[in-house]
Amino acid sequence: MKFFLDSADINEIKDALSFGILDGVTTNPSLIKEAVEREKSRGKKIDLDSYINNILKLCNGKPVSLEVVSSDYENMLREGKMLYKKFNKIAKNVYVKIPINPCLELECSNDMEGIRAIKKLSDEKIPVNCTLIFTPEQALLAAKAGAKFVSPFVGRVDDYLRETAHIKFNKSDYFPEEGWKDGKKILNDRGIVSGVELIREISEIFRKQKIQSEILAASIRNTRQIREVAIAGADIATIPFNVFSKIASHIKTAEGMQKFTKDIVPEYAKLFGTEIKK
Ligand code: G3P
Repeated sequence: MKFFLDSADINEIKDALSFGILDGVTTNPSLIKEAVEREKSRGKKIDLDSYINNILKLCNGKPVSLEVVSSDYENMLREGKMLYKKFNKIAKNVYVKIPINPCLELECSNDMEGIRAIKKLSDEKIPVNCTLIFTPEQALLAAKAGAKFVSPFVGRVDDYLRETAHIKFNKSDYFPEEGWKDGKKILNDRGIVSGVELIREISEIFRKQKIQSEILAASIRNTRQIREVAIAGADIATIPFNVFSKIASHIKTAEGMQKFTKDIVPEYAKLFGTEIKK
């Protein structure tokens, strides 16, 4: 499974790249807003054009998703082409992010503007990351239209299930992949009992249907979800920096380090020319 960073913060991106294992970056308008506000709060003026340029250069060939801002076919297509033309020449790594259904009404009818835009951009060989996926059917549709990445929102599925059952929760709380028992019933949305299950179903469908689009698990809230989406068949997990920085930690790892360090004899340390402070 590939590891992407879900961030538009250039310092976070630099840090994550320095780990040497980062495969790509995803952004969205909310993450860009956070980055812009952070720069402003430091008294800096942000020039998004060169800011994005720098991100793309830093990522040098690793995919970076940039999202359009309109919600109708013509404008999403125009913006997608513009993003690709303007920025892809920098490091050949732009993926245009298009929502599966850009309708802004909550109770929306079947809006196919996103699908039309994905199809047209894909036909023109512009790689698309289709975002805001909440059902396997939406994922199928996005893949059919040619999206290279389909992005199911794992954490937000779990949020939605708890919200509709009026259960209080914190964003990073663990949500069981096998679902949440509310009395005798398991909470579900059209048969989907958790964000991880959504990944599992999409993965099964894509395997059976021999679909090539990659499944990019988004809206990851805790480290356990990374393991679960990997088992469920995600090709990529896009991970926020605060979760990324916890993946390597375990109390017993730290305890083990303390013990091993304590046990280093001078003869062994001398082999390396290393001085161990006790
Ligand atoms: O990749 C999508 C992501 O940025 C949304 O995350 O935590 O706001 O649901 P979240």
